[in-house]
Amino acid sequence: MKYLLLTCFLLAVADAQLTVPPSNPITSSDVLRLYNIMVAPFISQCICATGVNPVFVDRFLTKFEFPNDACFKCFLKCLATSLSITHPDGSMYVETVLKIIPSANATMNTQCDNQSKDNLDLCERIWLYGQCYASFVGLA
Ligand SMILES: *[C@@H]1O[C@H](CO)[C@@H](O)[C@H](O)[C@H]1NC(C)=O
Ligand SMILES: *[C@@H]1O[C@H](CO)[C@@H](O)[C@H](O)[C@H]1NC(C)=O
Repeated sequence: MKYLLLTCFLLAVADAQLTVPPSNPITSSDVLRLYNIMVAPFISQCICATGVNPVFVDRFLTKFEFPNDACFKCFLKCLATSLSITHPDGSMYVETVLKIIPSANATMNTQCDNQSKDNLDLCERIWLYGQCYASFVGLA
C-alpha cells in the first residue's frame, strides 16, 4: 500500500514535470531527471531483490546503458513492476508508458513490443524493450 501510494505520487510528479513537446528531441538530462524521480525510490528494493551488481545500475542511471547481465535484466523488470508499467505477461500498459516515459509514443511502443514479445524470459523481454526505446529516442 505504501508503495502503491508512492507510485501514484511519483506518477503525478512525473506527469507534472515531464512535458516534453513532441517536436523537441529528448535529452539525456530529461531522462536522468525522470529516472531520479521515478526509479530512485525503488533502487534499494530492486537491488536487494535481484542481487544485481550496483555498478550496472549506476551505468544505467548515469549513462543509460543496458548491461548484458541476467540480474540487471531482472532489476529492470523489478522497476517496471514497481512502477506498474508491465502486465504480468510482460506486455506494456501502453497508456502508462505513454504518460510517464519521455518521448514515448505509440509507434515506439508497437515497434519495441514487437521486437521483444517473443522472448519468454520476462527479464530479458523488458531489457530488450528498454534498449529498443533508448535507440528509438536516440539515447543509444
Ligand atoms: C514517434 O517518435 C519518433 C521518434 O521521436 C518520431 O520519429 C515519430 O514520428 C513519432 N511518431 C508519432 C506517431 O508521433
Ligand atoms: C512485427 O515484426 C515482424 C517482423 O519484423 C513484422 O513482420 C510485423 O509486421 C511486425 N508487427 C507489427 C505489429 O509491427
